[in-house]
Amino acid sequence: MSEHAESMRTIWYETEGDKVCIIDQTQLPHALQIITLETLADACRAITDMQVRGAPLIGITAAFGVYLSLKQNPQCLLSACQQLAATRPTAINLQWALTQIQQELQALDTADQIGSALSLARQLLADDAGACSAIGDNGLQILKALLKQKQQSQPSEQSGENACLNILTHCNAGWLATGGWGTALAPIYKAHQAGLPVHVWVDETRPRNQGASLTAWELARSGVPHTLITDNAGGHLMQHGMVDVCIVGSDRTTRQGDVCNKIGTYLKALAAFDNDVPFYVALPASTIDFAVNDGVREIPIETRSADEVNYVSGLADDGTVKRVRISPPATGVSNYGFDVTPARLVSGLITELGVYPANVEGVAKIAEAMAADQ
Ligand code: MRU
Repeated sequence: MSEHAESMRTIWYETEGDKVCIIDQTQLPHALQIITLETLADACRAITDMQVRGAPLIGITAAFGVYLSLKQNPQCLLSACQQLAATRPTAINLQWALTQIQQELQALDTADQIGSALSLARQLLADDAGACSAIGDNGLQILKALLKQKQQSQPSEQSGENACLNILTHCNAGWLATGGWGTALAPIYKAHQAGLPVHVWVDETRPRNQGASLTAWELARSGVPHTLITDNAGGHLMQHGMVDVCIVGSDRTTRQGDVCNKIGTYLKALAAFDNDVPFYVALPASTIDFAVNDGVREIPIETRSADEVNYVSGLADDGTVKRVRISPPATGVSNYGFDVTPARLVSGLITELGVYPANVEGVAKIAEAMAADQ
């Protein structure tokens, strides 16, 4: 395993003790707490309560959940898959991973299923890390080209050589959300490692603040220059030429190239479109739902607890984490977790197989590349 993969992993299996370990993301950025998943219920709870989150990671966790469940009861493959599939509705990776694992295991004798479930989960984890690394390499080419273009367009007295590429991202699509590297953050890590001057605008991403608590934590840990902004600041920055490119992740991508991602992504895409800022989506091919065409009408959007909107929590001056209410008790809340960005607003889909246009033809080409890759 490379040094990067070792230091940037959010779920892993330890042969010694037969343990599935995760970073509990609900504790970040205040505490780096590692916990062990021991049962199917642990795996389901970790996904529902968002100790693990991010589309690829919940698929990987579900795969390990199947293993944990079979260890408890070798006869429970179907019901384990059903329970895991019901934990979160929007990211397709969850269903994708469970379908893969179920198909493979059903073909085996019950006695062989436990060991195979573990191998499949570990393979899924390794494959996702590999896919994300390739997404990083493919996205890096885009960042290099944009930087060159920016440097060439700046008058020499504005120290064009030193121009920095300003990248806006939403939510957390970093290594915490995947098997390693991340999707939207992978090209940024690769650019930083290659010595390209990059700076990241990090949307805080209300209500759960994955930008503030996870993306900022990841970037700080890797020394990538970044600035935290409120969710509503992006449009203003774009109007003033302070964003060169947006890169976000995806929870589900449709046959026509629509992209479902964390709530607020659509508004960033609209602002980017209005200001001629390229808007890329980085995703492993496992995020494509070939059964869905029109994302706005067909993708189920998760709604979550009103508490996530009514309360904020953070580190108080006395060093303890406190939760405080920010709204009157009688006020109603709606808490949609995701929105859909129509393909026409997306400049390109950065996948492990290459960069493709966000349209029917582009997604069909990804399908061809997937078939050729198998
Ligand atoms: O609700 P979350 O935190 O699971 O939402 C995560 C996102 O929206 C990510 O951008 C998406 O899963 C892509 S992760 C590589």
